[in-house]
Amino acid sequence: MVDVVLGAFYGDEGKGKIIDYLSKDAKYAVRFSGGNNAGHTIEVDGKKFAFHLIPSGVLNKETKAILGNGVVIDPKVLIDEISNLKKNGYKVDNLYISDKAHLILPYHIELDGMLEDIRKERKIGTTKRGIGPAYCDKFERSGIRMEDFISDNFKSYLKTNIDNKNIILKAYGYKEIDFESTYKEYKEYAKILKPYICDTTKMLHKALKNNEKILCEGAQATLLDIDFGTYPYVTSSNPTIGGVCTGTGIGAKYIKNVYGVIKAYSSRVGEGPYVTELKNEIGDKIRELGHEYGTTTKRPRRCGWLDIVALNYAIMLNGLTGICMNHLDTIGKLDKIKLCVAYEIDGKREEYFTTNEHLLSKAKPIYEEFDGNFGDISNCKTYDELPINAKKYIDRIEELTNTKIKFIGTGAGRENIIIR
Ligand code: GDP
Ligand code: IMO
Ligand code: MG
Repeated sequence: MVDVVLGAFYGDEGKGKIIDYLSKDAKYAVRFSGGNNAGHTIEVDGKKFAFHLIPSGVLNKETKAILGNGVVIDPKVLIDEISNLKKNGYKVDNLYISDKAHLILPYHIELDGMLEDIRKERKIGTTKRGIGPAYCDKFERSGIRMEDFISDNFKSYLKTNIDNKNIILKAYGYKEIDFESTYKEYKEYAKILKPYICDTTKMLHKALKNNEKILCEGAQATLLDIDFGTYPYVTSSNPTIGGVCTGTGIGAKYIKNVYGVIKAYSSRVGEGPYVTELKNEIGDKIRELGHEYGTTTKRPRRCGWLDIVALNYAIMLNGLTGICMNHLDTIGKLDKIKLCVAYEIDGKREEYFTTNEHLLSKAKPIYEEFDGNFGDISNCKTYDELPINAKKYIDRIEELTNTKIKFIGTGAGRENIIIR
């Protein structure tokens, strides 16, 4: 009944494109964690759509889009996204926002910047969208939920929070938030969003009873997980499989297929360890060939080879039932391709991924090499049509992970996909 799409590496693996394909027969597409730190791109007929909050499944007009309780929402960004979709001919009357989702407010964004400045050597390189501070408030229990946002209590809750946050912002010399203008602005946002806010958990359980298919759209990725990622260089939520249950209210017994998305190489934005990173002209070449610049922040992404040690960790943690591998076309433009099959740490071979910062910073990748030059594969519709070099690379990844690559991306367009 419930299928899940998760990032298996450090984000930007092309989850949006896979969701767009899978939503064809899904009644609901649900975001369960993160906020507008995400940027999911889909190219339809040469037109690019970038989703930050609304599930990418919304491009399928029959699919209802849900922002689950685990999501943090910047109302301004959401309203922009809704109007952008409307401009492109989408009605957006099939969007539902959980009454339990938390709000991102201007003080969260200001605090995100402030915290980055005072972190010194443990700077994270956040998207500065207020994500961390909004989740802090959620767990500290001063957060404002969507149900509060549209209630008469919003004014007093906002006042208390702004007064408290301004003490901190002032102490560190950062911009204080003006209550009156903020309230006026956000009251208007509340009016616009009110019709979309409801008990989405109840809706989803009704759907389950009716045997309707639900697709959960992961944002961020396994190695950015607050518990299982490369802490502290992570995001403030659980983009791994557990986040699906806590971020939607759906029990584990309903989950069937769990797809992990990777690229045929890898990338990372922001700080933190990255064993297979290529800080050389090959890394630069991959960045240019794959257009690896952030969808959300436009930052150049760090690029490197695919890492089987990290992938096997993602398979294990999430119980992945299949892999989706994008950008086979991009990696096929290189003469030679490397695949990291193990690490060497303190002279010893290691195949189990560690999130221990000190060990990971010492890890040296052990590579196998493959021939590239796949030629133009954008029109290949089956695995059999792929050139032999591409098949050898795919087969070896499947062998090393003991997991089937069920979807292969052969270009950025919606149609550039091989289904197996
Ligand atoms: P997400 O955050 O995981 O949804 O990924 P992003 O949208 O941030 O980044 C993925 C980028 O790769 C986008 O620009 C996609 O249009 C693009 N993309 C996805 N799949 C493929 C593929 O198979 N080949 C190529 N060339 N581009 C792809
Ligand atoms: P999608 O869904 C790539 C990274 C940031 C930073 C760290 C913490 O498009 O794959 P945050 O703003 O969340 O506190 O930043 O996490 N990050 C992402 N990197 N793709 C994303 O989302 C990301 N969301 C957050 O760059 O290193
Ligand atoms: Mg992205």
